[in-house]
Amino acid sequence: MGIKELARQDKEYVIDLRREFHMHPEPSWHEQRTAKRIKEELDQMGIPYVSVAGTGVVATIQGNNEGKVVALRGDIDALQVNEANDIFYKSQNEGIMHACGHDGHGAMLLGAAKILNQLKHEINGTVKLFFQPAEELAEGAAKMVKEGVMEGVDSVFGIHLWSDLAYGTVSVEAGARMASADLFKIRIKGKGGHGSLPHQGVDAVIVASALVMNLQSIVSREISPLEAAVVSVGKIQGGTRFNVIADEAVLEGTTRCFNNKIRGEFPEIIERIAKNTASSYRAEASIEYNLGTPATINEAECSRIATKSVEKLLGKEGIVKFEKVTGGEDFAMYLEKAPGAIAFVGIRNEEKEANYPHHHPRFNMDEDALEIGTALYAQYAIDFLNEK
Ligand code: NI
Repeated sequence: MGIKELARQDKEYVIDLRREFHMHPEPSWHEQRTAKRIKEELDQMGIPYVSVAGTGVVATIQGNNEGKVVALRGDIDALQVNEANDIFYKSQNEGIMHACGHDGHGAMLLGAAKILNQLKHEINGTVKLFFQPAEELAEGAAKMVKEGVMEGVDSVFGIHLWSDLAYGTVSVEAGARMASADLFKIRIKGKGGHGSLPHQGVDAVIVASALVMNLQSIVSREISPLEAAVVSVGKIQGGTRFNVIADEAVLEGTTRCFNNKIRGEFPEIIERIAKNTASSYRAEASIEYNLGTPATINEAECSRIATKSVEKLLGKEGIVKFEKVTGGEDFAMYLEKAPGAIAFVGIRNEEKEANYPHHHPRFNMDEDALEIGTALYAQYAIDFLNEK
């Protein structure tokens, strides 16, 4: 039997697992039950594995023939979202929901494990399966990489089920696919006083207001208009009372872009604008810049192999072009160590009410897509290892 047939055979297995994960969602770094279930399934299949990064699992399938090493990645964490779907497998953990489709990722990767384990005679090399925790914090991949999972890996392949893409379609083109996502926190130090006597103080609220506006000139005036980038301030805190001059204000925001060179320039630009804006109002600013994840950029050769894999499963009409997205994805951390690609696999189907965006309380998927994703994981692994 080929991959397509095996994926069809395992369809119910993967759907059942996805529903089970969906019913028992766990937030980042708390994926204990999920990891335990993954290990139980791997035990059943007789596939060896090790625990990494706390709640992460890395399984290894050794092919019958010598060759390269390919890694397949599925993230497994859920979100702080209150599920509003009326389904029998609704989340049983109050306030936590698989609202991004990672339940499907873990289930599909187990389905792929099952397939690849039966096709060992066709595998020229080694397949590693990365069940990754804490993607939603952009921390899991970094921890896995730090613990050495990418050592000796020649290519890494990931899938994200994607609600903006129709069921039956896949996008895996080369180039930028998802943005870098970093965080900044700016603390403004002013001087308190009476609201009726502003000249005696240094108003941190005024500085914060000016700073929010000045930060907007980064994208419009400092970065090439041919590059896409975002600087958003999502939170401002300052002041205690209507008639008290605020002595301190704190801003928190995020930067996004698709060019890792620009990403590297953001901290210095933001610091310069924050400090100079503050000093022009007699205040002081200090900045904390936390690196989340780089931009996710599909390598051309891996993208080409994956495109062919999709065509084997769905025909040429299964491949679609899809614009890159400004969301972040810590899959990029693996791509810093080896070439690879992430595929968006379509799950949208209005008839099945699978038409809500990711992170929405009514997010859901056309589960028929799980068969496609399962097969694609396995197909990429075999196709990559067969490349001369
Ligand atoms: Ni996600």
